[in-house]
Amino acid sequence: MAIREILKMGNPLLREPAALLHPPFGDEIYQLVEDMRASLKAVGGVGLAAPQIGVPKSLVLFEVPADRVEMEEGGVAEGIPSTILINPRIEPLSDEIELGWEGCLSVPGLRGLVPRYSHIRYRALGLDGGAIDVEARGFHARVVQHECDHLLGILYPERMADLRYLMYESEVQAFMAGLRESVADKEAVI
Ligand code: NI
Repeated sequence: MAIREILKMGNPLLREPAALLHPPFGDEIYQLVEDMRASLKAVGGVGLAAPQIGVPKSLVLFEVPADRVEMEEGGVAEGIPSTILINPRIEPLSDEIELGWEGCLSVPGLRGLVPRYSHIRYRALGLDGGAIDVEARGFHARVVQHECDHLLGILYPERMADLRYLMYESEVQAFMAGLRESVADKEAVI
């Protein structure tokens, strides 16, 4: 297990489309997953895609803490445990788009307001080669769309509709406070 360097925006390896993997998955893939887990834990992120450590394979890892999951009506907010998706495919289940703040380990120090489908279905293979078929909403859906974009060589700023909302982390809180104020004053927002 090794902590690997996470590539940053501008590195051409982040632009390469990832190759599909074919089960059964052997030691090379287990090792990759171990390295990705260690690398993600070391920096405290929510998700990581193999291309971010320079491996152009269709594999992502993510974990959604409970406090980041939206409450479903009548449901309980549960986190999504550490999940591996191999060869993931996303299908939007509605045309509804939500704006939300995203960051990326390959774009350190910045946050952006990114439109994403609010309700998706994703299908993938697990590390054991078994089928994964999940419906996701809200932050869970956002994380999966963000990570799967890495497999296409796409970083979140390219998904943004308005680059005025790409900003340094230190500015986001002040920006949001100002936004709430302007809503209270019934001034135009976003
Ligand atoms: Ni990312």
